[in-house]
Amino acid sequence: MECRVLLLILTSLVLRSSGEHHMKQQVERRQSSNKDTPIVVANWCADDVYPAMLTQSGGGPTEHGLRLQSGENQTIYVSDDWQGRVWARTNCSFDDSGQAQGGSGSACSTGDCGGALGCQIAGAPPATLAEFTLHGGMDQTYYDISLVDGYNLPLAIVMLANGNSELEQMQGSKTNPSCVGSVGDLAPQNFDPYKNGQQFLGTSSNNPMPFETKTTSDDVEQWCPWDLQVDAPTAPGNGIYPYPDGNVQRPVFDPCLSACAKYSEDQYCCTGKYDGPSQCSTNYYAKAAKSVCPDAYSYAYDDQDSTFIIPEGAGFQVIFCPGRAGVDSLPDLLQAAHCQSCDSES
Ligand SMILES: *[C@@H]1O[C@H](CO)[C@@H](O)[C@H](O)[C@H]1NC(C)=O
Ligand SMILES: *[C@@H]1O[C@H](CO)[C@@H](O)[C@H](O)[C@H]1NC(C)=O
Repeated sequence: MECRVLLLILTSLVLRSSGEHHMKQQVERRQSSNKDTPIVVANWCADDVYPAMLTQSGGGPTEHGLRLQSGENQTIYVSDDWQGRVWARTNCSFDDSGQAQGGSGSACSTGDCGGALGCQIAGAPPATLAEFTLHGGMDQTYYDISLVDGYNLPLAIVMLANGNSELEQMQGSKTNPSCVGSVGDLAPQNFDPYKNGQQFLGTSSNNPMPFETKTTSDDVEQWCPWDLQVDAPTAPGNGIYPYPDGNVQRPVFDPCLSACAKYSEDQYCCTGKYDGPSQCSTNYYAKAAKSVCPDAYSYAYDDQDSTFIIPEGAGFQVIFCPGRAGVDSLPDLLQAAHCQSCDSES
C-alpha cells in the first residue's frame, strides 16, 4: 500500500524543466525554520575546490560558498524544509573581498556564479549538482545527483541518519548515490574499500556498495561526447571531430557540457514543443552520461529512478571526488530502500 503511494510520488516528480532542474514540485511550508540540518561538504579531490550552495526555498546556510582545500570538510546548516542544490567550482581565483580578480568576470573555470564566492545565482554549466528537497510531500525527503547541465567533478551524496533509528536502518548502499565520470581519481577495478574493516561512503562490508564493475577507465575517460568537452584537445584533421575518438588523449580534467547547455535547442532542453515527459526523450549526451553515472539525472525528463526518497530527518554529506563507487540497478534499489515495510503492510 505505502509502496504504491510512494511509487505514485515518484511518477509525479515529472514537473520540471531544464532551467529549474527537476526539483520543481510544490514544497509544503513550515512555520519554524531552525537551521539544524547538517550538510557536510567534503573535498576528496587532489586540488582545492570551492563548494557552492543555492537556496530555492527554506532557510539556507549563512554563507553560500566557501573554499575547501584537498582533504578538508565543513558543515553547513540548513532548515529542515530547505530546498536547494550544492555543487563545486574549480580553478577559482578570488580577491580579498570574495570577488573575481579585477572586480568583474568569472572567478572559476567551472560552476562560476557571477564571479562571487558566495553564490546568489546558479552556477554556470558544466557542474555536477547535488539537489535536495528536504521537506517534500508526505514527510519525505528527495535528493538526487543531476548532470542535466553537464558534469565537472565526481560527486557522492551520503545520507546521515542523525540519530533517527528508521534512517539508521536504511543507511548504506541504498541511500548513497555517486557519480564518477573522471578518470583522475578512479580506483582500480579490484579496489576493495572495505579492507581492514574500513567504512566507505557510509557503507561497510556487511552492506557493501554494489560497485559498478562494468565500466572501465576508458569508459570513464571517454564518455563525454567529443563536441561537448569544454576543452576538447586539438585533434589532428583540422577541426573535424575525430570519430570515434581517433585515440586522441583527453585532458585528465575534462568537464563536459550537456547538449542542452551547449546548444540550447528545445529538443535537448525539453522546452517548447518538447516540454513534457512524453515529448522529450533522451539524447546523445544523456545516454553517454547515464552510461557512466546510472545514479544521476541526465536530462530534464529522465526516468524517475534517479530520485532518492527517504523519510524526513536526515542530514547529508556531499563528497567531491569520492573515488570509484557506482551503484547500478536503481529501480531495485529504490524498491528496497522505500518499500522495506511494504510486505508487512500490503
Ligand atoms: C571531515 O574531517 C574530519 C576531520 O579531519 C574527518 O575525520 C572526517 O572523516 C571528514 N569527513 C569527510 C566526509 O570527509
Ligand atoms: C582545474 O581544476 C581541476 C580540478 O580541480 C584540476 O584537475 C586542474 O588541474 C585545474 N587546472 C588548472 C589549469 O589549474
